[in-house]
Amino acid sequence: MRRFDDQTVLVTGGTGGQGSSHVRAFHAEGANVVIGGIDEERGAALADELGTRARFARLDVTDESSWSAAVLTAESAFGALNVLVNNAGVQNPPATIENTERATWSRILDVNLTGTFLGIKAAAPALRRAAGGAIVNIASTMGLGGTAHYAPYVAGKWAVRGLTRTAALELGRDRIRVNTIHPGVISTSFIHEPAAGATAAIADFYSPEPFAIPRLGEPADVTRLLLFLTSSDAAFITGSEYVIDGGLLLGPALQAESA
Ligand SMILES: NC(=O)c1ccc[n+]([C@@H]2O[C@H](COP(=O)([O-])OP(=O)(O)OC[C@H]3O[C@@H](n4cnc5c(N)ncnc54)[C@H](O)[C@@H]3O)[C@@H](O)[C@H]2O)c1
Repeated sequence: MRRFDDQTVLVTGGTGGQGSSHVRAFHAEGANVVIGGIDEERGAALADELGTRARFARLDVTDESSWSAAVLTAESAFGALNVLVNNAGVQNPPATIENTERATWSRILDVNLTGTFLGIKAAAPALRRAAGGAIVNIASTMGLGGTAHYAPYVAGKWAVRGLTRTAALELGRDRIRVNTIHPGVISTSFIHEPAAGATAAIADFYSPEPFAIPRLGEPADVTRLLLFLTSSDAAFITGSEYVIDGGLLLGPALQAESA
């Protein structure tokens, strides 16, 4: 018996760097997977590759009707929805608050915060019909502090924390657990390619070298934590927040030569 046999999991941004890692791992552990995303070509290819226990659902997380359709895909194809991973996210082009256009502010909050809200709203009735389940919202270490030039992203990820705690309280008696993961810097196109409207990528000006674990995170690092949090091993965990950052938030490690 694998950890996710007979379970159905919906992952938003399911074709992205971390999302596709999550999808593959849930599938390998027995789950039926619904790959939610806006990249139809990649989504269809991943669903084809995984076979009968996978579906692609075109899901723009800012669009309430595409949420209903994605939840329906899970229930009609596989009979129930047991796990939702709100993973889709976008980064703003770096700019001070004074130089941030209102349209940029709205676009980032729309995907990162409103998309998560709409996901919880759409999935909760299905999780209740399944007699319980788990939701994990992917925030960021940027949701635990301030980062100059990233106000829309930072504010949205902070807000996801409050949304998570509130949802955990509202849904706990329905046996639905809701938690947050805060990844540090993870090696995906999110950091290797410039955000829409930006000229430089985060990886161009970030190095993990000063930190306790001096490497970039890999999607698989986050996936392993996610699978634990959505499994029955985490049955008593709700409204909690998990940092996975290789020590980034600890600050620079003391170097041997300066000890
Ligand atoms: N990579 C990092 O360093 C890092 C660090 C902390 C948190 N995160 C968060 O992790 C999550 C996954 O990011 P990633 O690293 O895999 O980046 P990624 O760019 O590879 O994946 C992001 C995915 O979100 C999808 N997406 C964007 N807008 C969407 C929308 N409106 N509807 C549906 N899907 C949409 C993209 O198509 C893409 O598949 C995001 O929430 C991101 O904020 C990333």
